[in-house]
Amino acid sequence: MFKIEEDSQKLGQTAAVIIARQLIKKPNSVIALPTGVTPIPMYNAFVELMKYGIVPVEDAHFFNLDEYVGLTKNDPMSFAYYMDKHFLSKIGVIKHEIPLTNAKDPEKEAQNYEGKIKALGGFDLCFLGIGIDGHIGFNEPGTPFSSITHVAKLQPSTIKRNSKEFGKEVPNLAITVGIKTIMHSHHIVLMATGTEKSDILNKTLFGEVTTSVPASVLQLHPNLTILVDKECAKGITTTNARSFR
Ligand code: GLP
Repeated sequence: MFKIEEDSQKLGQTAAVIIARQLIKKPNSVIALPTGVTPIPMYNAFVELMKYGIVPVEDAHFFNLDEYVGLTKNDPMSFAYYMDKHFLSKIGVIKHEIPLTNAKDPEKEAQNYEGKIKALGGFDLCFLGIGIDGHIGFNEPGTPFSSITHVAKLQPSTIKRNSKEFGKEVPNLAITVGIKTIMHSHHIVLMATGTEKSDILNKTLFGEVTTSVPASVLQLHPNLTILVDKECAKGITTTNARSFR
């Protein structure tokens, strides 16, 4: 399904409704969550929905898609900090997993993380943002589609962009859920907002399926929902958009 929303706020509401429906259908769902600017309205809208007292979160298992390697635990640049700020502290989630940023052995931490996801049968629902180079999670161009959770080296462009709000460089390594792990999700929701994502979205959805554009693998997923705002949709040709129903 390809859905064009009025703006990023509306997109966030739609995405929050998808989480709520999933949890009402299956309260012990396993849900993968992204970081970045794009999903913030989704977290805000979900917090609002929670106020009605009808969405169960007690038995849900939330997993972060990725985390930097080499920061201290409470570093404001960490995704753990981000998740706590935007989501966890507001809804009191009990079961949330995120790779340790200060693990002694990051490779081992990645393996353990994959093990935790597998033990629960994989993701029922996986939300994704997209990097301007087409990365999903921190699976940068060139990452094999067969990858499971691993330690990834970040592209200079990704480091530069993600460093913006901190005034210092984010680490160049991260632990990310792999592409294969993402692709095994029952339902994937890809979110993109703003004109800067139009170009990569065109390549992702309508270009060649290639490891040079990691997100292009999503063309192969049987249950993919794409949510974009009007700004982002402007750069996507309507004939292209129509080919997704
Ligand atoms: C980071 C995250 C991705 C996210 C991407 C886009 O690199 N690892 O999961 O999708 O940034 O972020 P934004 O939504 O800020 O454009």
